[in-house]
Amino acid sequence: MNLVVVSNRVTRGKANEPMTGGLAAALLPVVEQSGAIWVGSSGRLRDGPQKERFAEVEALGAGAIAMLDLPAAHYGGFYEGFANSALWPALHSRSDLIRASHGDYLSYCEINAFMARALLRFRNRDTAFWVQDYHFLALGAELRKLGVTEPVGFFLHTPWPARNVMSGVPHHRELVEAMLAYDLIGFQTDEDCENFLAYVGQDLGLSVQDSRVTSRRGGIVGQTRCATFPIGIDAEKFAQAAMRAITHPQVSRLRRSLHGEKLAIGVDRLDYSKGLVNRINAFDLMWTREPALLRNVSLLQIATPSRGGIEAYCNLQNEVARLVSDVNGRHGEVDWTPIRYLNKGFGQAVLAGLYRCAQVGVVTPLHDGMNLVAKEYVAAQNPDDPGVLVLSKFAGAANELDAALVVNPNDVDGMARAIASALSMPLAERRLRYAAMMARLNSHTIHDWFNGFVGALRDARIEKETVEPALPAPAILPRRSAGPALRYY
Ligand code: F6P
Repeated sequence: MNLVVVSNRVTRGKANEPMTGGLAAALLPVVEQSGAIWVGSSGRLRDGPQKERFAEVEALGAGAIAMLDLPAAHYGGFYEGFANSALWPALHSRSDLIRASHGDYLSYCEINAFMARALLRFRNRDTAFWVQDYHFLALGAELRKLGVTEPVGFFLHTPWPARNVMSGVPHHRELVEAMLAYDLIGFQTDEDCENFLAYVGQDLGLSVQDSRVTSRRGGIVGQTRCATFPIGIDAEKFAQAAMRAITHPQVSRLRRSLHGEKLAIGVDRLDYSKGLVNRINAFDLMWTREPALLRNVSLLQIATPSRGGIEAYCNLQNEVARLVSDVNGRHGEVDWTPIRYLNKGFGQAVLAGLYRCAQVGVVTPLHDGMNLVAKEYVAAQNPDDPGVLVLSKFAGAANELDAALVVNPNDVDGMARAIASALSMPLAERRLRYAAMMARLNSHTIHDWFNGFVGALRDARIEKETVEPALPAPAILPRRSAGPALRYY
């Protein structure tokens, strides 16, 4: 099968270059190994009417990466607008932050249609398309409009929220109907999958049986299978990288600067879903309650700037910077800084070493699809003297890493206690927890995730062909003008 993977963000994966977000880090090794073609945005925009032209296509391991220049007129409305100011807040249950104009929605649809046209370059009789994430909810429907009958799957890296939250997104109905053009829709957790099926069953009134949604478009019955595929990492490879990284100059400098003091580490994009304010308040409370920990443990918080053109992100950046400065001002000493706060990204090779230096990993999002930092922190530990993971129960990773200290990120007091107990946890207990989590990580790797989804996509299509043997080739419908619902088949 000729697999084409599509996402907005792609990475060439230089180990020394900072990588934004879990999706790019996760897809890189599977593209390199599987021979898939990975298509995404080049990060460059083009003005004026344009054909879909790839800026670059280059080899990536056994696979290839193809980077597309996107239309300047629509990218802002697509990325900062509908994708990250309407869908992202809703998917993370922050309805209060939803902002989107009708123009943003149209730009979102335009970019989905543009990407669909561009993908035709990679289509042959044996192609399957695998679309990633909320930037491209409507891409499957756009491919069907262009006559694509091959398997098309979709995986959502974020959570899928409760019905009433989703229904706060402008055009939610059209978007979810468009998603039913996919043969297979994958989620991070069972809860996400159940939320989606509840929306489809109750808000769209469609029949859902055995996690399969039956929909009818233009008199043709279609079926979409929904299932859970928790994303993983290559834990062995990450562990080796962490061992090597210990001699990296930046990692050595960090270790030397600690003078035997313990370290907690947080690594996040600067995003309101990551729970940074509550986390810093928890450290503040811990140091206030337990002054013996002052000078004995500090926090290294890496907060990579993200989506800076969006007001909610600018506000958060200011709020976190003020809070860090306040905590450091109150608890700091002339020769000791409680929170080392860095607004920049690091390559995976350095991050692995930083994780290994830290006795506590704090991953406390308010909502998160999976959170691969949690998995990477565990994999990076020294098996003889492992650190402790403090993990939010609202990260998808908590379903698997239940041997972490699982916390409620809204309970600042509870988090302060959990961090303190992580710092004093006996070695035997740390080893037990680490071994349980590593066993889980090794039995559900990123390669298992990839093979599981691709296998299920193949099966879903075979099943669909059995259910719908006489499915005619979809007609190419006229381009959508502003407003009406998306249609496909
Ligand atoms: O699913 C979330 C995601 O797509 C991940 O790649 C990452 O957490 C984040 O969003 C990246 O966002 P952006 O591409 O906007 O920096």
